[in-house]
Amino acid sequence: MENEFSVEDYKKAVGSFVTGITVVTAVSGEGPVGFTCQSFTSLSLDPPTILISVAQTSRTFSTIALHKKFCVNILAAGSARLARDFAFMDPSIRFSAHSWISSAEGNPILGAAMSWLDCELVQSVEVEDHLIAIGRVISVGLSNDNLEPLTYFKGLFGEFVQLQNL
Ligand SMILES: Cc1cc2nc3c(=O)[nH]c(=O)nc-3n(C[C@H](O)[C@H](O)[C@H](O)COP(=O)(O)O)c2cc1C
Repeated sequence: MENEFSVEDYKKAVGSFVTGITVVTAVSGEGPVGFTCQSFTSLSLDPPTILISVAQTSRTFSTIALHKKFCVNILAAGSARLARDFAFMDPSIRFSAHSWISSAEGNPILGAAMSWLDCELVQSVEVEDHLIAIGRVISVGLSNDNLEPLTYFKGLFGEFVQLQNL
């Protein structure tokens, strides 16, 4: 028997799962596009694939669906403002406030990324109001591998703390 729960309880339950934060980027004829994305995970090793879950309303995803390529930028600690900007700022000015360069595929790599994965879109599956987008990883970069990650927990940005003696 299903138990009844509110949207708030559902958000609290899934929000208690701590994650890192990424910005998923792509390039359209009009320039770079991108959005803050928590729902990133590695999927397979051989060949390497990853997945992201994207709202069907995402403007960035319409570019990804068209050009079949995107880059996952894994953010370093200290990038909380950038993460907010790529979620809430007008998409047309998101890139003007932050440094970036183009990958070999033309996708934006953010200066704030501690690592990045350039991907080819191989499949997208519609699930209710979201899409699962699966990317085949074609190149990776470890720009700032020695940095700590940006984390997200219960709607708040944070940092990673290593436990001692374990
Ligand atoms: C911390 C955080 C995590 C987010 N994670 C996701 C996500 O996993 N998938 C998603 O579709 N939107 C996510 N969003 C919301 C998008 O970043 C936001 O709706 C953005 O404006 C979409 O931009 P676009 O329409 O230009 O693609 C997240 C927002 C925040 C603040």
